Amino acid sequence: MIFNRNDKCWCGSGLKYKKCHMEFDERLKSLKQEGYKVPTRKMIKTPEQIEGIRKSAKINSGLLDLIEENIKEGMSTEEINTLAHEYTVARGGIPADLNYEGFPKSICTSINDEVCHGIPSKDRILKNGDIINVDATTNLNGYFSDASRMFEIGVVSEEAGKLVEVTKECLYKGIEAIKPWKSSLGDVAAAVQEHAESNGYSVVREFGGHGVGLAIHEEPFVYHFGKRGTGMILVPGMIFTIEPMVNGGNRKIFIDKENGWTVFTADGSLSAQWEHTILVTEDGVEIISK
Ligand code: MF3
Ligand code: CO
Ligand code: CO
Repeated sequence: MIFNRNDKCWCGSGLKYKKCHMEFDERLKSLKQEGYKVPTRKMIKTPEQIEGIRKSAKINSGLLDLIEENIKEGMSTEEINTLAHEYTVARGGIPADLNYEGFPKSICTSINDEVCHGIPSKDRILKNGDIINVDATTNLNGYFSDASRMFEIGVVSEEAGKLVEVTKECLYKGIEAIKPWKSSLGDVAAAVQEHAESNGYSVVREFGGHGVGLAIHEEPFVYHFGKRGTGMILVPGMIFTIEPMVNGGNRKIFIDKENGWTVFTADGSLSAQWEHTILVTEDGVEIISK
C-alpha cells in the first residue's frame, strides 16, 4: 500500500503520514535496497496494539508471580495449571495454550530433562531437587503475550542451579544484543549461543522465539544459534519472544510418542528455559513481560 504524505499514518496515531512513519518506512526501504532483511509491516505493532499486548502481559506476569509464590515440593503440575488458569480467567483473559493445536492444558510445565511442552498432570508431583519451567501465554482481548520462568524445588544440585542461572543469562545476553536499526536477529542468536556454549552447554535448535502479539506465534522465527550480522534487522515496534532452551548435555531431543507434545533431551541431561516478550523501542528494548 502506498501512503500519501498527508494521509493519516497506517499506525493509527491520527498523525499525518509525513509526521509519523514516513521516515521510518523510507529507512526500512533503503536498508532493504542495501540487501538487509527487514521486517514486513505486519511485524510492526501500532501504539494501540502495543498497549493491548502490555495489558495482556500484565496478567501473564501476574500468574507467573502467583506460581512463584506458591510452587513447592509435593504439589502436582495439575495444581499449578489450575492456579494459572483461574488467575487468568478471573481477569478476563484466556490461557492461550489451552487447545492450541490440541494442547490439552493451560500452561506448559517441563521438569528436569523435559525441554518444553510438558503437560500438567495430577500424577506429576514436584520433588525436592527438581527444576521446572512454567511457560504461560495469555490472550487478553485478542492480544497475546508469552513468558516462562524456571523454578527450583527445595534444594537443587549445584549442576542444576548453574544451568538455570546460565540459561537466564543467555536470555538477557540476547535481549542486550538488540540495538534498534543496528542489530539483527543473528546478533541475538549469536549472543545466546556463545554464552551457552562457553559454559559447556548446548542450545536446542528445533524450537525458537517468535513474533507475538496478535497471535501466539507470528513471524519472525527467532533463532538461538547463528552468526552475527545475519538475519532480519531489528526496528522499533517489533514484538517478539526470546526463549532459549539450553541443555546440560548435547542438543539432541526427542518428542514423547504417547502424548505427541513433550520434548525431552535425548541424553537424559537437564534442560532449562527462560522466556520474555520484548518490544524494540526507539532507543533500546522494553521487556513487556517483566
Ligand atoms: N508458550 C509456548 C511458546 O513459548 C507455546 C506453547 S504452545 C503449547 O512458544 F501448545 F504447547 F502450549
Ligand atoms: Co514463546
Ligand atoms: Co512461551
